[in-house]
Amino acid sequence: MASTTARLHIAEPFLIQQDWKAYTPEQHSIWSELVRRRMPQLEEHACAEYLDGFHQIGLRDDTIPELAEVNKRLGPRTGWNATPVSGFLPPDAFFEMLAARQFPTTTYIRSREAMEYTPEPDIFHDVFGHVPMHAHPVFADFLQHYGRVCLDLINQKDKLERMGRLFWFTVEFGVIRQNGKIKLYGSGLISSHGESTHVIHGGPDIRDFNLEQVLDQEVKVSEMQKVLYAVESFDQIYEAVQAAEQRLI
Ligand SMILES: [Fe+2]
Repeated sequence: MASTTARLHIAEPFLIQQDWKAYTPEQHSIWSELVRRRMPQLEEHACAEYLDGFHQIGLRDDTIPELAEVNKRLGPRTGWNATPVSGFLPPDAFFEMLAARQFPTTTYIRSREAMEYTPEPDIFHDVFGHVPMHAHPVFADFLQHYGRVCLDLINQKDKLERMGRLFWFTVEFGVIRQNGKIKLYGSGLISSHGESTHVIHGGPDIRDFNLEQVLDQEVKVSEMQKVLYAVESFDQIYEAVQAAEQRLI
C-alpha cells in the first residue's frame, strides 16, 4: 500500500518538522539506554508482531529514530506514517490524524530524571511504544478505523469516553495470548519497565477481551493497571471497533 499523505485540516497547526540533527549525544544516549533496558524483557514478553514491527521499521538501539527514515519503511507496508507533532493534540485533531493513517508523534525525548515515567508522551513512548505495531496490517486497519469512528462521535462526549476506554485497553495497555502465554502489545506496557514487570509478575486481573466490559471499565491513568483484557488475535480488536461503531453511532 502506498504511503498516505492525506491533507490534514484540524491537525495542521500542530504539525512540525523533526530536526534530527539537533539531537545531542546525551539525547541519543538516553534513547539507547531506554531501548537497551527494555529489549531483554520484551524479547521474552512482547508479542511477535511488535518485535517484527520493530525490525521492519528499522528502529535501532543506538540513535533516536529519524521519522522520515521510519516512514520510508512503514509507509509501503501499511500506509501509516509517524508524523511529527508539537505535543498533546485536541481530540478532533488526534482522531483526524488516525483516520488518515498518520500517527501523531512527539519528537522530544524525556530527561534522564524521568527515565521510567513521563506524564507527557515523548518520542520513546510514541515511536518505541506505538509505531512498531503500525507495521501489522490488521492493527493498522483497526487503528485507522478507530480514528474514523471517534471523529464521527466528536460531539458526543459520553460515547467518546467509552471509545477512549477501547483505546486504553488495546492501543495503550493491550495484551494478547500467544502460545498459551500473555504477551504485551500496548504502548503503555511496551515503553514502561514498571508497568510491564507488574503484568509479568501477575499483578493485574487479566480477563478475556469483551467489548461491553471494556467500554464500561473505568480507566485509572495515574496508577498501575488492576484489570487488563487479553485478545486471542488482532482480528478481535478490528471486529470490536466495527461492533462499537454499529452500536454507538
Ligand atoms: Fe500512547
